Amino acid sequence: MHPETLAVHAGQKSDPVTGAIAAPIYLSTTFERSADGTFPSGYEYSRDDNPNRRNLETCLAALEGGAEAITFASGMAAITAVIESLPDDLPKRLVLPDDIYFGVRSLLNETDVGRRFEWEVVDMTDLQAVRAACAKPTGLVWIETPSNPLVKIVDIAAIAQLAREGGAVSAVDNTWATPLLTRPFEFGADLVVHSLTKYIGGHSDVMIGAVVSRESGPQNLALRAIQKHKGSVPSPLDCWLALRGIQSLAPRMQVHCGNAMEVARFLSQHPAVSVVHYPGLPTHPGFAVASKQMKSFGGMLSFEVAGARKEAMAVAGALRLIARATSLGGTHSLIEHRASVEGPQTKAPEGLLRMSIGLENALDLISDLDQALGQISNRR
Ligand SMILES: Cc1ncc(COP(=O)(O)O)c(C=O)c1O
Repeated sequence: MHPETLAVHAGQKSDPVTGAIAAPIYLSTTFERSADGTFPSGYEYSRDDNPNRRNLETCLAALEGGAEAITFASGMAAITAVIESLPDDLPKRLVLPDDIYFGVRSLLNETDVGRRFEWEVVDMTDLQAVRAACAKPTGLVWIETPSNPLVKIVDIAAIAQLAREGGAVSAVDNTWATPLLTRPFEFGADLVVHSLTKYIGGHSDVMIGAVVSRESGPQNLALRAIQKHKGSVPSPLDCWLALRGIQSLAPRMQVHCGNAMEVARFLSQHPAVSVVHYPGLPTHPGFAVASKQMKSFGGMLSFEVAGARKEAMAVAGALRLIARATSLGGTHSLIEHRASVEGPQTKAPEGLLRMSIGLENALDLISDLDQALGQISNRR
């Protein structure tokens, strides 16, 4: 079946007891044994498994085309589980993209996870640099495309191949693309990670994450053990909300992508904007790779305001419709000055504003940006 159909049907049969089309939310933490001590329903205790979580995991595995999906309490919990589940016989060394989501850098710099692993950061748009990094003993190669916040595009097939040649696991953070735009297993990746908090939840009202694996194997068992015993699990309501979000993911992504393209075109012609980072613009360095591995170019873009921090902050401050808030992938368009959010270690240019383009009419977004950028131009 096509992804649009799987999004509505996989893991979403009508309720066997009542016939309800929208699944009930099973809040029960515990499930009854039969007289012989077995669990006829297949459920025992909600941290181990529950119906809403199983439905969501079934749907995610089908959408990514993987063997198994394992959900966690947030995208960061899923990322942590991937690093911690690396098989013992692999080197404790990670190869990471230079524009990796800054939460992963904080995980490594500020928690015990970083004390257990070494890591090397490379510009993954430079395949020679990736090749050199993978030539050293490596356990995990992390891929993020499009990246956060510079919207860099990297070649999943080429990097997964380099990881494989070096005996490393390759994992793709597919949060920004979603399985509706990019299916990393088709390009040879071993694992796919999601912050479902973003496009998949889709309404800025649920915090949840997932790891999907291409094949069943020892790392899946390790991931399940982390889920169950470390206990960083999503609630039944979280799972229900994420699965409800998935049902409308396909048409939402079409609108996000269409709006983002229109906004990117507008910004790229505005005199107060020096650069637009959007892979759907033929001038973007990742346009060719994005055209090959993405169905459409996504709903995220960044742009740099001519001048720097003061001017960028002034533009964000002058917006009336587009909200100044972190996160992405929801119905509302959001804007954020990433350098302020990420602090002194940021790689984001001081003039850069990141936007999550929502589901509003693109003309209203353009008109809001136009009046805000106009205020800066008039002050010059
Ligand atoms: C690409 C990417 N991966 C992972 C995360 C972390 O997800 P969560 O906030 O659900 O822990 C984020 C959050 O912004 C993200 O943008």
